[in-house]
Amino acid sequence: MKIGVIGTGAVGKTLAIKLVANGHQVLVANSRGREEVADSLGISSSRLTPSSTPEALSCELTFLTVPWTKVRDVLGHGGPQDGRILVDTTNIFLSYPPDAQIDDLKGDSGSEIVARLAPAARVVKAFNTLPFARMFAPLHDCMKRVIFIAGDDAPAVATVASLVNELGFHPVSLGSLAQAGRQMELAGPLSGLELLTPAQAAA
Ligand SMILES: NC(=O)c1ccc[n+]([C@@H]2O[C@H](COP(=O)([O-])OP(=O)(O)OC[C@H]3O[C@@H](n4cnc5c(N)ncnc54)[C@H](OP(=O)(O)O)[C@@H]3O)[C@@H](O)[C@H]2O)c1
Repeated sequence: MKIGVIGTGAVGKTLAIKLVANGHQVLVANSRGREEVADSLGISSSRLTPSSTPEALSCELTFLTVPWTKVRDVLGHGGPQDGRILVDTTNIFLSYPPDAQIDDLKGDSGSEIVARLAPAARVVKAFNTLPFARMFAPLHDCMKRVIFIAGDDAPAVATVASLVNELGFHPVSLGSLAQAGRQMELAGPLSGLELLTPAQAAA
């Protein structure tokens, strides 16, 4: 699949490298331009293309891996078009730990805001509930880590679940952005929750 990744921090870099290793064509963008993308990722591959944000957003599926405070900059021009999938990995930090400040959305939720900023995309929330160092920490072969998924479009959720599975996790699709997306958000009951399942049961 042709996959976009916007952001080359812990989340974007990890996902881009894993996706390339799994044979996908991956277009990666950050705020500093193509050369800095290549430097940030530290790998070169014919399947990896340092790109602009619009190019990454034109892929069949794009991971949004920028700070919450930058989401509007990235999606300011409307986000992906024509029902392309946007995977929202963001958490609503105004500043990261140890001086964490969480945005007060006054009853709204981050993923629903993302969906409104990208009205022509099918938004799926995933990969946000654990620190990446924990999410990708080695596990015994007999276990898989659960990745929660929320979204309003069943085929888009299924596509993301398939990618999650391919990356070695056990996908658990929980429902809509309004309900499940909120539960996955910071301070929600699924945020920080690490679940493991026997790999055979997950297969
Ligand atoms: N880190 C984790 O363990 C973790 C786990 C789950 C969810 N999350 C969430 O996932 C998101 C990414 O986390 P992270 O730790 O990878 O963040 P990060 O280290 O702060 O990296 C963010 C990336 O976004 C890029 N960026 C910022 N503004 C941009 C713009 N306008 N256009 C294009 N790229 C832009 C930055 O580009 P430059 O490199 O050019 O500055 C940087 O590469 C955050 O919302 C975070 O809350 C993080």
